[in-house]
Amino acid sequence: MDKLVIEGGYSLKGTVAVSGAKNAALPILAATLLTDQKCIIRNVPDLRDVSTMMKILGELGVQATWKEPGVVETELVDPSPCTAAYELVRQMRASFCVLGPLLAKRGRAKVSHPGGCVIGPRPVDLHLKGLRALGAKIEVEGGYVQAESPALRGQAIYLGGAYGSTVLGTCNVVMAAVLAKGTTILEAAACEPEVADLCDCLNHMGARITGIGTPKLEIEGVEELGGVDYKIIPDRIEAGTLMIAAAITHGDVILEWARLDHLRAVVDKLREVGVVATAWNGGIRVVDANRSKATDFATLPFPGIPTDMQAQLMALLATAEGLSVVTEKVFPDRFMHIAELNRMGAHIRREGPTAIIEGVPALSGAPVMASDLRASAALVIAGLAARGQTEVDRAYHLDRGYEHIEEKLSRLGARIWRRSE
Ligand code: EPZ
Repeated sequence: MDKLVIEGGYSLKGTVAVSGAKNAALPILAATLLTDQKCIIRNVPDLRDVSTMMKILGELGVQATWKEPGVVETELVDPSPCTAAYELVRQMRASFCVLGPLLAKRGRAKVSHPGGCVIGPRPVDLHLKGLRALGAKIEVEGGYVQAESPALRGQAIYLGGAYGSTVLGTCNVVMAAVLAKGTTILEAAACEPEVADLCDCLNHMGARITGIGTPKLEIEGVEELGGVDYKIIPDRIEAGTLMIAAAITHGDVILEWARLDHLRAVVDKLREVGVVATAWNGGIRVVDANRSKATDFATLPFPGIPTDMQAQLMALLATAEGLSVVTEKVFPDRFMHIAELNRMGAHIRREGPTAIIEGVPALSGAPVMASDLRASAALVIAGLAARGQTEVDRAYHLDRGYEHIEEKLSRLGARIWRRSE
């Protein structure tokens, strides 16, 4: 199993390009199940989760191949398979978003129920509610969600849940509704840029979706979708992670392609703690000379501070001056990183969905264990600033969502390398 080893204490300086968004690439690749024609998807990050989605497409009769770095071509070879097996779905929850396209295009689907994961229980009731509203008959049996419908029909659907909107639930329902008869009005839809990117891509394939980027989507069903040549948006979470890495090391980094309009809440919070973050030639420049100040924040669906940035911001606040309070409102149990940050000398206490962080002047390097993608990113960030050496075990979590992470950080001046054991 690979480890990332980091020698802390070096400021990050220079320019780095942000990769394509993982969480847009995954549903967009699933959307290629909706057409019989070839699709070309550009700016696709070379990540473990992307390869998993390409394997799932392969099992579902859509051959997905890398044409060149960043470019995936998909082609239908067999329209009959309808099963996404446990073995692949358990590796990646996003696989569940093949359910909507399979149902819409092939009339039936059998997709392994994804279950929970380290960040919480993660139910799929809202996905199923939306698909049932469109007329699907759905049963859960033997660990699989089995769905069928000879013809879906557009409906008015409210998709909000106890923790707000659902990102992949919205993707699933939208991908089913594009081929339904009539018009679907989807309220409390997720507004995340990745959902908007999926909708834009679907429209390029011939779908008729309006209200993109708002909580009310109107989807006029069409007979069929065509092929597409589509470029995915830059990854706002990778950009945000690199911004914090620059800030915690008192660096000066330009993030090419990073979109300020996708990162407003994070940039606003960074400015509040003393980081200088500005628009820079179509990207973002981050400069930080001083120790950050403490702050409070809660994670929220877009345009709020993303839950996918909570752990990384917490790593920054662990070394800030004063007491910070962080409340996780999307996944209230997403705090696996606290114990590991404390092993590095942080003072963080959890009270239910809230973490209280007493900033310390410096962290110290330690062997730590990655538990999920963003928690691992927080440990890397902490390691970059810590005194001495940090070893982040189970680096495969990072490989799920950060393209060439150690190369990108090394180029900026970090001392980071991979050790295979
Ligand atoms: C997506 O997961 C992302 N994954 C997650 O990123 C991200 O943390 C999350 O959205 C929130 O922004 C991908 O896009 C592949 P949700 P998703 O459905 O769609 C509850 C990463 O690190 N809920 O928006 O699965 C749920 O429990 C990953 O890149 C229900 O109650 O998240 C949570 O409290 C991790 N019923 C809230 O809604 C449902 O049917 C939001 O979850 C569905 C969700």
